[in-house]
Amino acid sequence: MSFSKDFLWGGATAANQYEGGWDQGGKGVSSSDCCTRGSRTQPRKVTYKTSDGVVHADMMFGLDAPEDAVFGCYEGFDYPSHEGADFYHRYKEDIALMGEMGYKTFRMSINWTRIFPLGYEEEPNEEGLKFYDDVFDECLKHGIKPLVTLSHYETPVGLTNKWGSWVDARTIECFCRYVKTVGERYKGKVEYWLTFNEINCLGFGGWMAAGVPSRDPQKIADAAKHQLIASAKAVQILHAIDANNKVGNMIGYGMIYPHTCAPRDVLKAWSSFNGSYFYCDVQARGYYPAYKLKEYERNGIEFSLTEEEKETLKNGTVDFISFSYYMSNCASDDPEVLANQGGNMMFGVKNPYLKASDWGWQIDPTGLRLSLDYMYDRYQLPLMVVENGLGAQDQVEEDGSIHDSYRIDYLRDHIKAMKDAIEIDGVELWGYTPWGCIDLVSASTGEMHKRYGFVYVDYQDDGTGQGDRSKKDSFDWYKKVISSNGEDL
Ligand code: BG6
Repeated sequence: MSFSKDFLWGGATAANQYEGGWDQGGKGVSSSDCCTRGSRTQPRKVTYKTSDGVVHADMMFGLDAPEDAVFGCYEGFDYPSHEGADFYHRYKEDIALMGEMGYKTFRMSINWTRIFPLGYEEEPNEEGLKFYDDVFDECLKHGIKPLVTLSHYETPVGLTNKWGSWVDARTIECFCRYVKTVGERYKGKVEYWLTFNEINCLGFGGWMAAGVPSRDPQKIADAAKHQLIASAKAVQILHAIDANNKVGNMIGYGMIYPHTCAPRDVLKAWSSFNGSYFYCDVQARGYYPAYKLKEYERNGIEFSLTEEEKETLKNGTVDFISFSYYMSNCASDDPEVLANQGGNMMFGVKNPYLKASDWGWQIDPTGLRLSLDYMYDRYQLPLMVVENGLGAQDQVEEDGSIHDSYRIDYLRDHIKAMKDAIEIDGVELWGYTPWGCIDLVSASTGEMHKRYGFVYVDYQDDGTGQGDRSKKDSFDWYKKVISSNGEDL
């Protein structure tokens, strides 16, 4: 058997990169709203003001801000999330396009700051709740089941400015209030949920994943613990609200190969893998793995769990596992090789057998099959690939057409790999939602011209364009893939 008859074909987005309307409908400021536009060569920055009144802009990856930093948006900076791809105003048009492609599901995130603008209020913002009611109704009208990420790089900066966001355990309670609010409100409309997008991004620094303005390993460990407890509580809250709810986790996954067969490289690949597996291990198994506890001990990280916290983790394991997959990398323990690193969020060593995208992400469909096999074997839980795709620069022809055969090739090969994982290896796969199905802002660079979509959005990096939508060649191709349930590639 190949893709199941109710396989969830669809596409994926995130509010911070897609929605725009950043200050409309009572919305508050999120961690991504404070990130400037960057490029392949210019890193994105995060803006804040210190008590002396000076405005600063520091690198988003590896941010280490002073204690008195007040995060926010300041004049003279270009913040791409503020407009995104304007889904806020164009959701009907976009969902109709998804319906036309035959989507069974649409992965999107609720922007926490639309519901609780500062993060710590007691009462939700009705206008924000109403917006997502309208969006979900529109999806259901087109026969599309929403797949909702509760937190996708959208931590309220109100929480960062108040107590350092996820470093402080009080954020758990705020998050749970938010989960309960949306769980109750959208009961019967939303059945598939994801807790934290790419929770393992915390390993690359705290800002994107958690609104933590620090690289301090102790703070990262504390934030990770609080998010893992919050994730487990979210699972329990959503199950209690509706027994039909299916709650998954989400990790950023990249296949990691040993650079050579030298045992030290193999060991390095294994320990690099554990950097990502750690979060998933806790969310799927309900307890901290031994290798992580040993790592904390070795590095002098203070860590403990109360009996109550242990119970929470144990009783809050996920129903399925979801992950993003774009590329693979190699791990090496050889200092000379390490001097030659590549990749983006999944830093690693280049693989001589693979080609890379224009942004240096190595293209490896077999790596997707291996990832599915590894994950299924490790957890024996259903899987979903909730992000995959090729970020590329598209050329609009004079007649308005866009011939993105490179994107079709990439997706075709990855779908074939999923098919093999199902047919040959017996993996249980529930769904596939390629990333940025309608063009949106890049998370790592803040660029608009790193495009993933089946639908082109006329916004450019210099702020020009009206945001009009047009179909790329891949639109009809994906429509055919869905209607043939993955047989006609
Ligand atoms: C994942 C994120 O890391 O990769 C998305 O969950 C992101 O938010 C996607 O957009 C692709 O990365 P980028 O940097 O090309 O946008």
